[in-house]
Amino acid sequence: MLYDLLIIGGGPAGYVGAERAAHAGLKTLLIEKRKLGGVCLNEGCIPTKALLYSAKMCDNAKHAAKYGVSADNVKLDHAAAMKRKDKVVRTLVAGVQASVKGSGATVVEGEAKILGRGENGYKVQAGEEVYEAKRLLICAGSEAAMPPIDGLADSFAGGFAMTNREILAMNEVPEKLAVIGGGVIGLEMASYFASAGSEVTVVEMLNQVGGPIDAEIAGLLQKNLAKKGIEFVLGARVTAIKNGEIVYSLNGKEETLKADKALVSIGRRPSTDNLGLESIGVMLERGAIVTDETLRTNIPGVYAAGDINGKSMLAHTASREAEVAVNHMLGLKDKMSYAAIPGVIYTNPEVGTVGETLEGAKAKGVDAKEVKLTMKYSGRYVAENEGGDGICKLVFDKARETIIGAHIISNYASEFIISAGMMVEKSMRVDDIKRFVFPHPTVCEIIREGVFQY
Ligand code: NAI
Repeated sequence: MLYDLLIIGGGPAGYVGAERAAHAGLKTLLIEKRKLGGVCLNEGCIPTKALLYSAKMCDNAKHAAKYGVSADNVKLDHAAAMKRKDKVVRTLVAGVQASVKGSGATVVEGEAKILGRGENGYKVQAGEEVYEAKRLLICAGSEAAMPPIDGLADSFAGGFAMTNREILAMNEVPEKLAVIGGGVIGLEMASYFASAGSEVTVVEMLNQVGGPIDAEIAGLLQKNLAKKGIEFVLGARVTAIKNGEIVYSLNGKEETLKADKALVSIGRRPSTDNLGLESIGVMLERGAIVTDETLRTNIPGVYAAGDINGKSMLAHTASREAEVAVNHMLGLKDKMSYAAIPGVIYTNPEVGTVGETLEGAKAKGVDAKEVKLTMKYSGRYVAENEGGDGICKLVFDKARETIIGAHIISNYASEFIISAGMMVEKSMRVDDIKRFVFPHPTVCEIIREGVFQY
């Protein structure tokens, strides 16, 4: 049978692409080698959020007295939290299965490999079967990066070192957990295991946590996590892992850290191996598939969406990219914009960020202005955050009088950063934003307040 579209990979790019394409009438086949939902749903975003919610409940209960509530002997039951996490994942995977099936797309379990061009399209093998499709959408995702750290392979083999996959399946709470890399995965897992009772140390190569986020917000996040007991070693590059010891260089000196387990969270790389990309000549650059603004590769009819193109490596980007690709296949006018993709760190407090930082804008030659305000301008924030030190920074283009960035550390930041994202994406002018009515009292009102302080 000749398919209109064959999708490789069933994560947030692949399953959304399959649903959109099948709904639009394309005969669609999706091939997934593990589980529908991909890393995000099975061993990334979703299970982490389930665990972090348990951690937040526990942290809130520990501080309940500040709010006039008494709670004794508060502790996180890791086994129960894991059980609930598994249930959440099962529920959502079943939901994705039902909605892909409901769209009319066909799902096949197996490892897909592109064999080359056939008479009518591209040939792809999965198991014993060979399928043919007029178009391909490659959504094979990413895997944990494995840098040349001495002893890393042995540490994985011995069960001492873990990626997100293993740590999210770990049934015990290690007494001492070393987190290598203070990016998003590192901070979220450090946050959970600190609440669960581990002594956590984060070893980060840069001088700030959270990757390229606003430096002041990174500092505040670190301060809040340190209050939970997490230790940070910054400016430290891990060079070796030996016998339960992490070796790192700090200010030119070699130091060691003893731990019971180590999470290696130092970035991810596109999963382009063994896909048969070379059989049709798909172009790669620094290990990622090269795509244009409609997610086309250099090969006609072949598209790539999600982490595999290395552009933004976020689930929400992946889904939107797949939609753009499918729209292009359908001849609809659409293109991908990367200007206002929200980034969130789901720690407690959360960090929500979108668009330019002041520094980034200036580096691009924009005449930019920043308005910084304490979250205490929000009545609801004050009501719900005893002793909270959150801030919000809005970045404006002075010449165009538009908002070009928002950076927030506060509870609910994950939920309302999209409001700023829409303003950035649509290059909304300050005067127009002032006319929006925000619900009161909400934490989101901080954006309105910031715009009035421009
Ligand atoms: P990341 O790129 O966010 O952070 C990796 C960190 O490791 C960086 O800060 C880097 O400086 C540090 N590092 C690299 N080599 C090191 C070394 N030898 N020693 C010490 N530190 C070193 O990568 P992460 O946290 O692994 O996340 C991977 C991907 O997953 C990201 O692309 C992220 O977008 C995605 N993700 C997103 C989440 C979210 O949106 N909330 C949650 C979890 C993952």
